[in-house]
Amino acid sequence: MHITPRTSPEAARGMGQSAVMTTFDVPPTVPDTVQAMAGTPPVAGSSAGAPAASRRTLTIGPHTVDTPVVLAPMAGITNMAFRLLCREFGALHSQDDGGLYVSEMVTSRALVEDHAESWRLVTMGERETPRSVQLYGVDPTTVRRAVEMLVERDRADHIDLNFGCPVPKVTRRGGGGILPWKTELFTRIVRGAVEAAGDVPVTVKTRMGIDEDHLTYRDAGLIAQEVGAASIALHGRTVVQHYSGQANWDAISDLKELVTDIPVLGNGDIWSAEDALRMVEQTGADGVVVGRGCQGRPWLFADLAAGFAGLPDRITPDLGHVCRTMRRHGELLVEFFEDEGRGMRDLRKHVAWYFKGYPVGGEMRHRLATVESLADLDAKLADLDWDAPYPGADAEGPRGRAGTPKKAHCPEGWMDSRELSDEHRARLHEAELDTSGG
Ligand SMILES: Cc1cc2nc3c(=O)[nH]c(=O)nc-3n(C[C@H](O)[C@H](O)[C@H](O)COP(=O)(O)O)c2cc1C
Repeated sequence: MHITPRTSPEAARGMGQSAVMTTFDVPPTVPDTVQAMAGTPPVAGSSAGAPAASRRTLTIGPHTVDTPVVLAPMAGITNMAFRLLCREFGALHSQDDGGLYVSEMVTSRALVEDHAESWRLVTMGERETPRSVQLYGVDPTTVRRAVEMLVERDRADHIDLNFGCPVPKVTRRGGGGILPWKTELFTRIVRGAVEAAGDVPVTVKTRMGIDEDHLTYRDAGLIAQEVGAASIALHGRTVVQHYSGQANWDAISDLKELVTDIPVLGNGDIWSAEDALRMVEQTGADGVVVGRGCQGRPWLFADLAAGFAGLPDRITPDLGHVCRTMRRHGELLVEFFEDEGRGMRDLRKHVAWYFKGYPVGGEMRHRLATVESLADLDAKLADLDWDAPYPGADAEGPRGRAGTPKKAHCPEGWMDSRELSDEHRARLHEAELDTSGG
């Protein structure tokens, strides 16, 4: 069964006739779903007050992308399907795909042990260039070997190292966001990765530190620069903060002043193109890393590319456009998993995000959260009011993980010294056994 929109395609595509149309020629590779979105009316006043932007690019090692934007690695979210969807939108206002799109994190140990599922996670689509893979690891030797394997097997054009995971299971053993506290260990991991990667650039992504009294980002930035990392991205929160409160953009400014030889990327609480422009303006960052803001809103990458190109175009989809995007996401997931049921199970977690602010009732959301197949998806989406207009502010702002600060679970005595004790070293490998992102 194929979706029949309640509005004719012509009408749907004409939604933006009175609006500012894109000045960029939509590449032929962009599917209709995405092309149709190009003409949605701009958010009223969205460009008002936004700092004037001139086109700026982002260079990571040998790669230069047209828009200084990175899709944040998100475990369970940024698989090939979601990355491709984001790229399709990013391409709307860009000469390329409008940024870098990083894979879900894989553990270096799983790659070294040749786990098929982990290698599948780093599978890239034909369109994905450069191929950005995120690696998590705690042991310099294992990380080095994983990087060598990625390079030998020609599986990555860019490798990002994750030092931000706040999950207690990981930090309790010394991994994730608390690892940079041990400066020598951090140095050995990054240096080893850079050496093993050869011409493939290695970047670092980290948090501000363990807590306000144990900040690590300044040392991490200087070390990353010193040992040859191609950029450093800072999420303006500590491990204790998890995803609570507001990201501290002052720390990003501070890092940008300190680290002058490699790009510094800012991360945290970018929900719109205007936020991204403001972050760059306020902090001097060379680019932005965008995570939760694009959950259920992959078209944010079109807005970001437009914003950095100085264009006022913003995508303001009616419910029909959202349904088409969800359908496209579903198709890409089925292709990626090569299994319709699995693709649909993955899509279920995106349902609430896609419909944030739209008049879609609890019963309908519940039905969609049990979707089994593409045909089932089509049937369920067809019951929605495709003409429901863009809800404005209700569809914008924070989404995804939030919560409250949580105690930092560190190994006993971890914060007493910046050197790694033998006892801590012995437990460290366990930190790679069970990880779930940053
Ligand atoms: C569901 C989820 C999964 C995440 N997984 C990872 C990950 O695998 N690697 C990583 O470095 N950060 C991960 N993060 C952190 C994000 O990359 C990003 O740093 C964080 O969400 C802050 O950016 P934001 O405010 O734009 O969301 C994850 C975040 C979320 C919400």
